[in-house]
Amino acid sequence: MKRSIGPKKIKTAVFISGKGSNLKNLIKFSKFKKYPFSVNLILSNTKKAKGLKYSNQYRIEKKIINYDKKIKTDKKILYFLNQKKIKLICLAGFMKILSKNFIKKFKGKIINIHPSLLPKYKGLNTHFRTIKNREKFSGCTVHYVTSKLDSGKIILQKKVKISKKDDHISLAKKILKKEHLIYPAAIKKILN
Ligand code: GAR
Repeated sequence: MKRSIGPKKIKTAVFISGKGSNLKNLIKFSKFKKYPFSVNLILSNTKKAKGLKYSNQYRIEKKIINYDKKIKTDKKILYFLNQKKIKLICLAGFMKILSKNFIKKFKGKIINIHPSLLPKYKGLNTHFRTIKNREKFSGCTVHYVTSKLDSGKIILQKKVKISKKDDHISLAKKILKKEHLIYPAAIKKILN
C-alpha cells in the first residue's frame, strides 16, 4: 500500500477491546514526522475497554460498537470510517472477528498484531498454550487481515526467548514490549 503524495499522513483507525497499550504506542509514534500515519478514530466493541481513555487524553474521536448484530455493525463502522476518511485499520487487541464482507470492503487495508510467531498459535490464549508446550521461543507478528483467522500475509515478526522462569503472564509482558516496537515499524513499512 503506497502513500499518497506529499507529507500527508494516512488516516488510521485503531480497533481495541482492552487496555490499549498498543493504541497508546501507535498514537505516540504517529506524532513523529517519519511515521506516515495519524490516528483519527478509536473504535471499541465495549465501553469497558480501558484504552478508550486515550480518546480524551489525545482528543481522538471514539466509537463504541455493539457487535451483536453483525450486518448493522458493518454498515455503521463503514459509515464512521468514510466520515473520517480512514484509509488503514489497525487491530490492536481487538477481540471480535470482522465479517468477511467487511474485510472484502476494506481489502488490503486492515492489519493486526498477534502475540505469537504466526503461523504458530493462532487464536486465543496464545501465551498459555506456548508455555504449556514448553516452547523455547515465542514472539509477535503484524500481518494483513484476511477472512481466515490470523492467516494473512506477514509484514513483520519479532522473536522473544522464553526463559525457564517465564509463565504466561511474564511472557505476555515481554512480548508486549516487542509489539510496541514492531507495530509502528510495520505500518511504516507498508506505507512507505
Ligand atoms: C496484545 O498482546 C495483542 O497482541 C493481543 O492483545 C494484546 C492487547 O494489548 N491481541 C490478540 O491476542 C489478538 N488475537 P493492548 O490492549 O495493551 O494493546
